Amino acid sequence: MPKGLYARSLIIIIAPMVLLQCVVTVVFMERHWQLVTQRLSKAVIQDVAAVTDLVQDRRGPQELDRIIDIARERLDLNVALLPPTPLPAPAPKPFFSILDGILSDEIKDQIGRPFWIDTVGNSRIVEIRIQLDDGVLRVFAPRNSAYASNTHIFLVWMVSTSLVLLIIAVLFLRNQIRPIQALAAAAEGFGRGQPMPSEFRPRGASEVRRASLAFIQMRDRIERQIEQRTQMLNGVSHDLRTVLTRFRLQLALLPEGEDQDELNSDIDEMQRMLEGYLAFAKGEAGEEVGELDLETLLQKFRSEAERKGKRLTTDIVGDPRITVRPDAFSRMITNLVANAMRHGERVKVSANHEGRWLTIAVEDDGPGIAADKREEVFKPFVRLDPARNIDSGGTGLGLAIARDIARAHGGDILLSDSKLGGLRALIRVPG
Ligand SMILES: Nc1ncnc2c1ncn2[C@@H]1O[C@H](COP(=O)(O)OP(=O)(O)OP(=O)(O)O)[C@@H](O)[C@H]1O
Ligand SMILES: [Mg+2]
Repeated sequence: MPKGLYARSLIIIIAPMVLLQCVVTVVFMERHWQLVTQRLSKAVIQDVAAVTDLVQDRRGPQELDRIIDIARERLDLNVALLPPTPLPAPAPKPFFSILDGILSDEIKDQIGRPFWIDTVGNSRIVEIRIQLDDGVLRVFAPRNSAYASNTHIFLVWMVSTSLVLLIIAVLFLRNQIRPIQALAAAAEGFGRGQPMPSEFRPRGASEVRRASLAFIQMRDRIERQIEQRTQMLNGVSHDLRTVLTRFRLQLALLPEGEDQDELNSDIDEMQRMLEGYLAFAKGEAGEEVGELDLETLLQKFRSEAERKGKRLTTDIVGDPRITVRPDAFSRMITNLVANAMRHGERVKVSANHEGRWLTIAVEDDGPGIAADKREEVFKPFVRLDPARNIDSGGTGLGLAIARDIARAHGGDILLSDSKLGGLRALIRVPG
């Protein structure tokens, strides 16, 4: 079965039509055509029988000529009386013709004499020979007077009207299905964070219109909620930052002491966490699409790795310039590289921008993640090393944010084992 709605609806229309036509054709052909042929054949053989009787009962050669003339003029039969020779051997029966059978039956019924018949030899004429007492009567009858031959007109009509019907159906269907396709495209685009095409408005049948309207309202509601959330978060973050700043100032005013450094680093930690939560909650879907140079980004990672004493190798196949939301996309790669650098000593980043998909693999030689935990770690605030102190790690949002961003670009992130021994995180987005 085809997958598309268009193809399916066409089949729903075409299948019954073809079925109907087949049934009608078979029944019509079988019944009507056979009946008409039977009647016509009967009439021809009645004429032949009359001529046979007349010839049999004639009283002289003049009368024979007269009969032959009348048969030719009035009955359209070409009659001749041959000398009394035995009839030829029966001609082979044609395979697919009902005419031969019907004519033979009629002759047996109405004339009841030995006969010979050829319906195949000459396509326009049927030849009949009948054994008389004193000769053989040979009759040529036009084939089409014994045979309903114009039935193909009926077929031509049927096929051509159904073609017209089909064309009309195709045109109408296409108009009905277009709004559904537009709705699907708009919903898909919204899922990927693209702005809705401006020409999108409810069109088509009432059900489709309702679905489109519902979709537009849903989108508005979601956008409103996101906006509210962002506003609230901005308020919260502003307030908390103010408090944090006040802490810092008060700390600076306190007399020098051991505790001061610890408190300061706690404040730093809180600030960092706060920024992380906010970034996650806000999302970065609002950003405009632009150009990002992977080469520059990877260069930044290389110098960072150098500072931390890690070994980072990079590799780009294809065009290093990609069209994405630059800030969000850099954040996603940064999160993955930060994870790799935290857990491993050797890190490898390989980008491929050749085919329809852009893939970026981040690999490390760390402990990796067990296969049954690979979905778990994408959840916000999930960290696999709970024993460790919170400030040795992050907040558990890195992968959640990264996956959000990948999905907002219409792609995803997959975790697997790396050849280096640790984890391999693969970003895959439409290129
Ligand atoms: N490359 C990796 N090797 C081994 N474990 C990893 C790796 N990357 C992530 N993990 C595990 O997955 C968990 C979740 O990672 P995630 O990036 O979401 O949070 P995080 O790194 O702990 O904090 P954040 O990224 O917010 O600073 C981590 O706590 C870690 O246990
Ligand atoms: Mg992380």
